[in-house]
Amino acid sequence: MNFFLDTAHIDEIKKAQKWNLIDGVTTNPSLVAQTNYSHKELILEICNLLKDKPVSAEVLSVSSEKIYKEAKELAKIHPSVVVKIPLIAEGLKAVKKLHAENIATNVTLCFSPNQALLAAKAGATYISVFVGRLDDIGHEGCEIASQCHKLMKEYQYKSQILGASIRHSKHIFTLAQAGIPISTLPFKVFNQLIQHPLTDIGLKKFLEDAKKSKHLP
Ligand code: G3P
Repeated sequence: MNFFLDTAHIDEIKKAQKWNLIDGVTTNPSLVAQTNYSHKELILEICNLLKDKPVSAEVLSVSSEKIYKEAKELAKIHPSVVVKIPLIAEGLKAVKKLHAENIATNVTLCFSPNQALLAAKAGATYISVFVGRLDDIGHEGCEIASQCHKLMKEYQYKSQILGASIRHSKHIFTLAQAGIPISTLPFKVFNQLIQHPLTDIGLKKFLEDAKKSKHLP
């Protein structure tokens, strides 16, 4: 499974990068609003940090023509930019045009397999299924993401289902079991994946025992 980091915070990206396990970054307007950067400056800085890995930057327009224009501007920032477009009819119209021009898109705010089918038909590169927000309203977010992924395979669409709105490490395990190719994680959840108290206890004991040994340095 590929791991994207779902953040607009440069310090979080730098920390996660040290582990060398990050395959991309996704942002959204709410995350960008938490920073002091202009959108363009922020995306450029993230792209420079990530080198050739995909960085999703979201449009704010809601009419197809404006989405298309904004997407073209965002795509000019850096070759790694993936334009994030809401899953509305106007958005999908723009996705189709952008796909024809080989501009990568991440169709966001997907909550159902039918929506995912339409996004795939329009030529989305990635389709972000918001599992946490589905759970919030009593649905099974991971199950819906899995259904979306099965449809992509069934119809041989190239679009990749991206598990988004991740709240905890169990989401990641469930999505991984379903074969979801990518998840985008908040930094907090990324940290949760690596941590286990038994690992810390075990390591402490190994190091203490090593100090007592005559044979180890
Ligand atoms: O980037 C989209 C998504 O990951 C948002 O997550 O936590 O605001 O539902 P959340």
